Amino acid sequence: MITNVKEILTKAKEGGYAVGAFNAMNLETTRAIVEGALEMRSPVIIQVTEKTMEYGGGRGMYHLIKNDAEFYAPDIPIGMHIDHGKSFEVIQRAANIGYPSVMYDGSRNKYADNLMVTKKVVDFCHEKGVDVQGELGSVPYLGEIQIEDIDWDKYMTDPGQAEEFVKKTGIDALAVAIGNAHGFFKERKEPDYARLEMINKNIGNIPIILHGASDWENGRVQEVIKRGIACFNIDTALRLAFINNLASAVKNKSEMSYDPRNILGDARDAVKAVVKEKIKIFGSDGKA
Ligand code: G3H
Ligand code: 13P
Ligand code: ZN
Repeated sequence: MITNVKEILTKAKEGGYAVGAFNAMNLETTRAIVEGALEMRSPVIIQVTEKTMEYGGGRGMYHLIKNDAEFYAPDIPIGMHIDHGKSFEVIQRAANIGYPSVMYDGSRNKYADNLMVTKKVVDFCHEKGVDVQGELGSVPYLGEIQIEDIDWDKYMTDPGQAEEFVKKTGIDALAVAIGNAHGFFKERKEPDYARLEMINKNIGNIPIILHGASDWENGRVQEVIKRGIACFNIDTALRLAFINNLASAVKNKSEMSYDPRNILGDARDAVKAVVKEKIKIFGSDGKA
């Protein structure tokens, strides 16, 4: 059942667990997330990036996710969300299609510009009943920096700015940088727990999102949930499961597997296994 993202996140934050926001890019990954959530009785968020909007069609992905959530998991709360929308135009397009939640990512812009455009996005979206996630500080991507060179201070969220940003923009959720990074990447040796604690204190009950969580395991996950993280974004781990499974299936193909549905079905199940494993780590199993 398609459910309001803010409601899913708020329940998680209040309940002391987190949900997964999983990136879908096609039929197989969408179905894997829906089935994983159903089998674990867990709320989840399914999200689509700009690149996936180009690949699968923003409208096509919208109807695919909506149909799968409503038909296959009618009693499981499933949020639909646009991940890393980088311009006001993309947000407009997504909201007009019907996506009920979006992220505007102005994190690479100057603070004043990020604040100004995020506020503009919130005004536009709230008018239409669409939730908005903003990002402050910036979560690095694998490949854009050398791990040895990384100056984490350049990326981190400033707790004082976070307070002002949330107040002035009216966002519904905040993505933070506390030593997390996109991709399988050596994250900062230790996440900056004290910084997260301060951000959480400054922004009250606004749910906090941790991007780049594919390689976050139990210990860290628990520590950040305690300090306000209500949602972990997962993409790379799903891609790897899909591609690795596909590659070995193609290599070992028998005549039967010339039917793409056999091969893609197995890849879907490999993604589902990762979704279920993550749900267990985040503690959202049984919360639907
Ligand atoms: O955090 C963002 C995604 O992992 C990047 O996804 O390749 O679909 O833009 P994309
Ligand atoms: P990973 O690819 O590191 O899992 O990050 C996903 C993400 O942050 C999507 O917004
Ligand atoms: Zn991200």
